[in-house]
Amino acid sequence: MRQGDHGMAAFILMESSPVMLAPWLSLSARVLANGTSSFEKAHGEDLWSYTAANPDHSQLFNEAMACDARLVVPVMIQGCPGLFDGLSSLVDVGGDNGSTIKLLVKACPWLQGINFDLPHVVSVAAEISGVEHVGGDTFESVPKADAAFILWVLHDWADKECIQILKKCKEAIPEDKGKVIIVDAVIQEQEEMDKLTDARLMLDMVIMAHTTTGKERTLKEWGFVLGEAGFSRYTVKPIRASQSVIEAFP
Ligand SMILES: C[S@@+](CC[C@H](N)C(=O)[O-])C[C@H]1O[C@@H](n2cnc3c(N)ncnc32)[C@H](O)[C@@H]1O
Repeated sequence: MRQGDHGMAAFILMESSPVMLAPWLSLSARVLANGTSSFEKAHGEDLWSYTAANPDHSQLFNEAMACDARLVVPVMIQGCPGLFDGLSSLVDVGGDNGSTIKLLVKACPWLQGINFDLPHVVSVAAEISGVEHVGGDTFESVPKADAAFILWVLHDWADKECIQILKKCKEAIPEDKGKVIIVDAVIQEQEEMDKLTDARLMLDMVIMAHTTTGKERTLKEWGFVLGEAGFSRYTVKPIRASQSVIEAFP
């Protein structure tokens, strides 16, 4: 094992669980013209309904997401100094059990954190100092804050849903000084591929196997969903991870 590999144990356990392996056998269902979700073909419902009905799998999933948060948050803070300066509150949209916002409020103690996720997820989340857990549906509304943070969520959804979520995030932040911070992969075009491109394309396969309509996006595709959601401008910063940091402004 290399240094740091133990931190990925929960992720490996989740990805190698029979629940997550089964959809790979139906991946052709997603790729073929009818576009049936391979997860739904294997389990009869989507991942989020499945986790709601199966607390053990939900816990395994949450622990895997916490692994990712521990890896990505320090790299993001190092790569984007000042990202949270001037903000007093931050809502983590699809924040799972709060692992990410816990790290963020620890690193930026001036932030009042809100962890927002589905009710069955936040109802079992441990209390976190400086963080309020809020259960709800991101397609209906997002709790108000100076900025919305959204890590590894938008790639779970097709453009239509992605635009709906982004619109709800935009409604949650102040029009004049708010921002939405998206941390997700940006797939590079042929001529600009780097050594993480293969990892991002493999992530695209994982997302295809495990979500109903999700996909990784190129810069052009991000520009499209951000424009449709009504953002006037955005910046993209690569970090030392498969994700980049996109800051979108009303
Ligand atoms: C891939 S996970 C990302 C978790 C976390 N942001 C991270 O990277 O560690 C997607 C999250 O979105 C949440 N989610 C799915 N549908 C949602 C909805 N309609 N409203 C709020 N959260 C939702 C899931 O429960 C899950 O925690």
